[in-house]
Amino acid sequence: MSEFTVGDTDFLLDGRPVRLLSGALHYFRVHEAQWGHRLRMLRAMGLNCVETYVPWNRHEPRPGGFRDVAALGRFLDAAAEAGLWAIVRPGPYICAEWENGGLPHWVPGRARTRDGRFVAAVEAWFARLLPQVVSRQIDRGGPVVLVQVENEYGSYGSDARYLAGLAELLRALGVTVPLFTSDGPEDHMLTGGSVPGVLATVNFGSHAREAFRTLRAHRPDGPLMCMEFWCGWFDHWGAEHVVRDPADAAKALREVLGCGASVNLYMAHGGTSFAGWAGANRGGELHDGPLEPDVTSYDYDAPVDEAGRPTPKFWAFREVLAEYAGGPLPEPPPPPAPLAGGGEAVLTAWAPLEAVLEACGGPEVSGPVPPTFEELDVDRGLVRYEVTVPGPRRPYPLTVRGLRDLAVVYVDGERAGVLTEEEPRLREPVAGHARVELWVESLGRVNYGPRCGEAKGITGGILHERQYLHDVRARGLRLDDLEEVSAVPFGAPDGSGARGLYRGTVTVRGAGDALLELPGWTRGFVWLNGFNLGRYWSAGPQRALFVPGPVLVEGENEIRVLELEGASGRAPVLRSV
Ligand code: GLA
Repeated sequence: MSEFTVGDTDFLLDGRPVRLLSGALHYFRVHEAQWGHRLRMLRAMGLNCVETYVPWNRHEPRPGGFRDVAALGRFLDAAAEAGLWAIVRPGPYICAEWENGGLPHWVPGRARTRDGRFVAAVEAWFARLLPQVVSRQIDRGGPVVLVQVENEYGSYGSDARYLAGLAELLRALGVTVPLFTSDGPEDHMLTGGSVPGVLATVNFGSHAREAFRTLRAHRPDGPLMCMEFWCGWFDHWGAEHVVRDPADAAKALREVLGCGASVNLYMAHGGTSFAGWAGANRGGELHDGPLEPDVTSYDYDAPVDEAGRPTPKFWAFREVLAEYAGGPLPEPPPPPAPLAGGGEAVLTAWAPLEAVLEACGGPEVSGPVPPTFEELDVDRGLVRYEVTVPGPRRPYPLTVRGLRDLAVVYVDGERAGVLTEEEPRLREPVAGHARVELWVESLGRVNYGPRCGEAKGITGGILHERQYLHDVRARGLRLDDLEEVSAVPFGAPDGSGARGLYRGTVTVRGAGDALLELPGWTRGFVWLNGFNLGRYWSAGPQRALFVPGPVLVEGENEIRVLELEGASGRAPVLRSV
């Protein structure tokens, strides 16, 4: 058994100074059968530690309804097996370009404050989660050396009592390894985000000396650590693909290590936000502007790419890290087998979206105002709102107030346009009497800034001219309810590429890592053998979805595509990575 402690200038392992060379890898963004490979890649890059967040919303989709909480423990065991220490960042808020920053859509009370309703939900969750961590701490023979309190809290709030209470809770639940906070290297963030007596660390992508100087002004001693060294970045739908030059990143890493600091590469391997779990930002200086939904890939331009292969950044970092390694570094393991032979999918069945909603959706709710996604208990998915424009009356503009995020609109069964936050008014005025359907999609809940936790759906109302339309019916379709589709009345596709759920097969030879392309399709989700690969969207910049090899089987595989707008009718294509 070893003891890991925080010394005056260093981390100490049984009293000896050690430096943490860590890399972020989120177990929930990598297929479990590929954890071992990715962890060995981290080891081969020269890292001695892995860091992961824990997404509360994925593990507790409904209050008290827990899902595979043991996954964290299995991942920590895999880390130990790969010869890595581990840092756990359990949240409850994690940011991470993850839906709602990891907070369940149902959290009660004012999130991330001492509000008793919120804290009670966190206590129940942590009581369930923490045993996975506690039993695997280094003083019990496990790999866990550090546990984080909250996440960049100083970028959000200043409720010191909430933060201190969270640290106490972690201690009460049996955390014996050092706790820490992490924040941007700014005075207001460090004052708002750190806890007296708890190690403070900083997050940045460059200018290490300056960042640590700021940290030192707040904390004269304690080991220096960059808890998130941003060596790449993520993409938004409809925006440019972001990259960071490997040589520039390696130079910045050298500066961090040259300061005598420990580091956590964010991300060492990003993986994929499968199953529609990608979050969203709000643009603008105060992060209160337009919605910027995150793409499905979380490749992050990381040293180990989305398919697990070493990039030029991997080799550049390895060279830097090798200087700090105790001995020679292991060679990278061979990459997982790529798909040997793929090809076009054959889509033989189709059901219109209405029929899918009928078969798999929640109950219909009606009332004078549109319910939000939260009120309908829809986390990821869509809601059909139906409203009647009374008549007779002449045509007037139809406007949605507080639309989040996007609505495909039908008037008397005819497609009338797509509304967004920026353009929430139909082009053509609508005359009464008319039946209006608004199929509203969430493009991912905001995971950062003051608007984290905001509701999805129609959060204001539906206006005809200036008049609220008060007779609203609504029905939700959760993505998770599409895991099982035996009740959907499939027929033959008519070749028009109409929106709806498509089903068919794709035949492969030599099952292995692959990419799925959807040429001519607009926006939706794809399942392969029941595994949700995530959102696709012709807006780009992402053009193909990563398919982990373990999802595929030799021969015929079942594919399902939920297209939400309409496609050109061309077949999806599976090809090797
Ligand atoms: C912050 C958060 C991380 C992540 C990065 C950006 O530092 O703490 O969770 O969102 O930004 O990738």
